[in-house]
Amino acid sequence: MSDYTKLWENPANPELEVAIQSAEAANVCTAGTRELTPEELEEHLGKVEEYKALLKKQVDERRYIHSLNVADCAKELAELNGVDTGKAYLCGLLHDIEKNRPWDEQERYMEQLGDALPDHVIQNKKLWHAPAGAAFMRDELGILDADMIRAIKYHTTGRPNMSPLEKVLYVADYVSIERDYPGVERVREAAYRNLDEAILIGGRFTLISLLERYRKVNYDTFAMYNEVAELMGEQFEAAAAKEEAEARAKVAKVDAPH
Ligand SMILES: [Fe+2]
Ligand SMILES: [Fe+2]
Repeated sequence: MSDYTKLWENPANPELEVAIQSAEAANVCTAGTRELTPEELEEHLGKVEEYKALLKKQVDERRYIHSLNVADCAKELAELNGVDTGKAYLCGLLHDIEKNRPWDEQERYMEQLGDALPDHVIQNKKLWHAPAGAAFMRDELGILDADMIRAIKYHTTGRPNMSPLEKVLYVADYVSIERDYPGVERVREAAYRNLDEAILIGGRFTLISLLERYRKVNYDTFAMYNEVAELMGEQFEAAAAKEEAEARAKVAKVDAPH
């Protein structure tokens, strides 16, 4: 038997195990999903007020406002990127529908989705609402669209090889109007120019923030970042070096004895 065929079972290679789990999860097509017909999509869009009322019951006030803002932003970004605006709006509206629900409910829907989820999702409760929300949308609302379900499923971690709709939701969630984390203006400006650029800049913020707090970085986020860094990272290298040099000069000036 050759050594390399069982490489992923090597206990000395836990990262590889995680990588394989994640790649498998990304390739799973959620059971029962397909593309919605235009008539079916119209029907769901006709229920927007009903969905808003349901959302209001399921989440707190802050989350409700956030969801409306993400829906508006997703619609704008969809328009700019040739993505279906109706699908983007519904995804924005419903992406956090499980966010404030009890953990046991989130866990139940997450399992109900039926996909093999990687350990880094199962071990981090904050990520549960994404796959749980996807199952809620499919099973309670009958929104069977595979692309929409995947966009909800991956909206917190992102993943490599996202579809344009997935990118729209991921970025809209990052830059919706009420977001005010340091640097949001830069990501927001990039978002309306190029989604990959927004993912590169936003992903960098996420990674820096996680690393600074000694937190774990999940594999999907890292792989997503690597994908956009490969695509356009070089363009930003010189600008980042200049920024760093300016920041260092500023610190040196402050530290200089008077
Ligand atoms: Fe979320
Ligand atoms: Fe959100």
